[in-house]
Amino acid sequence: MFFSYRLLFDLNALSPRYHPMKVGVLTGGGDCAGINAVVRGIVRRAETKNAVVVGIRRGWAGLLEPDFVPLTYDQVADLVSVGGTFLLTSRTNPFKKEGGPGLVVKNVKDAGLDALVAIGGEDTLGVAHKLADFGLRAVGVPKTIDNDLSETDVTFGFDSAVNVAVDAIDRIRTTGVSHERIMVVEVMGRDAGWIATHAGIAGGAHIILVPEEEFDIGDVCEAVVARRRAGKNFTLIVAAEGARVKLKHGQVTSAQELDDFGHPKLGGIGHLLAGEIERVTHLECRDVVLGHTLRGGSPLAFDRVLCTRLGVAAMDLVSKGRFDRMVALKGNAIVEVGMGEAIKPKTLDRDLLAVGRLFQ
Ligand code: F6P
Repeated sequence: MFFSYRLLFDLNALSPRYHPMKVGVLTGGGDCAGINAVVRGIVRRAETKNAVVVGIRRGWAGLLEPDFVPLTYDQVADLVSVGGTFLLTSRTNPFKKEGGPGLVVKNVKDAGLDALVAIGGEDTLGVAHKLADFGLRAVGVPKTIDNDLSETDVTFGFDSAVNVAVDAIDRIRTTGVSHERIMVVEVMGRDAGWIATHAGIAGGAHIILVPEEEFDIGDVCEAVVARRRAGKNFTLIVAAEGARVKLKHGQVTSAQELDDFGHPKLGGIGHLLAGEIERVTHLECRDVVLGHTLRGGSPLAFDRVLCTRLGVAAMDLVSKGRFDRMVALKGNAIVEVGMGEAIKPKTLDRDLLAVGRLFQ
């Protein structure tokens, strides 16, 4: 029987061994420390699976208008400690663009991408989850300093952010004590007070204000005056930017426009509170907004290890064909969970807040 060696070669070339899997990686939403370590884990694991990784720039925008960068481990090997995302990010929402979802899926196909890893928070992963209905094969990695994603004990970036906040709060404490002032520290945390509560407890805050519980400025003033009457002339208040003032204000925004996912630009609660406290109590009060310092800088060791593990696990899910799933931390184990469940918001554990409230 005559064998066509060409045919044999062609058949062989169809096997996965000759067509390595091609995986796209994108980073969307607010950046944070550790993203690059996740990408590094994905790329390194891919090499062991005979897969290739293609970086997609600026989150979902890089799939609406293809903007790719092939990645090798040499390019990312030293990024474990580098903050931010070298792939850049955006808050682009394909579902806000006419024909966006179909265009993303088409560009994924045209680029020969077999699958995607989406590194992001509720918005970025929410898009990946919705695109599953359009045939997109994606795995999610939970990223946000807010720690407000469900189905994972913690999101990466959170621990590093809390440590930045506590370092700043410790510094604010010494100057507040010296001047016998009320110091208001505004931290990030749009819909959940995880950062405010962890940083508040670790920083020894006397008052912690979070989005989950409306507060009355009069109550805060009363607490400050009561402390003063008891001879406690320094008061530390930690407020999440998304904290809600009862009656008058609701959330305090610093601009009217909304982003692609309908989020207002928060900021200003600390300044509002400081002004009201001075006006009502005539006590000296200063406010500090930590803002994007919490997102910046190098990841701490906890996040570097977590990110590396999540990146490796995400590539494993891709190679197993486990799509519309998210890698997550449960205890000390990296597990997989359903993306739809994971993107539900995780608000503050009230018992934890109660602990924080003990130290007024
Ligand atoms: O989603 C994380 C987060 O840092 C929020 O805490 C904050 O409100 C928001 O992003 C700020 O977004 P941007 O960097 O786009 O202003």
